[in-house]
Amino acid sequence: MTKFHTAALAAIATLMAGSALAEPQPMANPAAGAEPIVGDATYKAFHEKEGISRIMADFVPRITTDPRIKARFEGVNLIRLQLMLTNQVCYLTGGPCEYGGRDMKEVHASLGLTNLDFNALAEDLQLSMDKEGVPFTAQNQLVAKLAPMQRVIVTK
Ligand code: HEM
Repeated sequence: MTKFHTAALAAIATLMAGSALAEPQPMANPAAGAEPIVGDATYKAFHEKEGISRIMADFVPRITTDPRIKARFEGVNLIRLQLMLTNQVCYLTGGPCEYGGRDMKEVHASLGLTNLDFNALAEDLQLSMDKEGVPFTAQNQLVAKLAPMQRVIVTK
């Protein structure tokens, strides 16, 4: 019995040593700030790339006119921002896109953003997702990927 136990434990330890449990895998695209959601259900609930493009076409004018945060975007290339956000959300929701933009920590580091800024932007995103008719559960799945980024984006 003891002998069996020891052998079984050794076998499990060997298995674990070669598995993801023993050593976390490096992020597929660290700049995007999170690993993509597995499967394509969330991506589909966002109405795929066309839906995400519509969301960002609504979201970027929304954040750049929101009196709480519009000053943050003065002088920013909004065409690039919209494109980067579209690709990032497409990638994170499990879509066939690559995020080719800058690293989340680096790009926001010099902006001195606060929790109030972050919450205002999250609220605006929710309004844009609502407008596209993204179901609440799918919205929450994306929010769950974005929420931990608050730690690196907010510096003040
Ligand atoms: C989870 C939340 C956020 C995500 C996922 C996000 C994502 C991004 C992305 C993808 C870019 C473009 C990177 C590039 O050009 O390569 C960007 C740039 C930018 N973001 Fe955010 N962002 C977030 C929060 C915020 C907040 C709260 C603010 C301010 C209220 C903000 C302000 C900016 C500004 C001003 C830029 C342009 C910086 C520049 O071009 O130098 N972001 N963000």
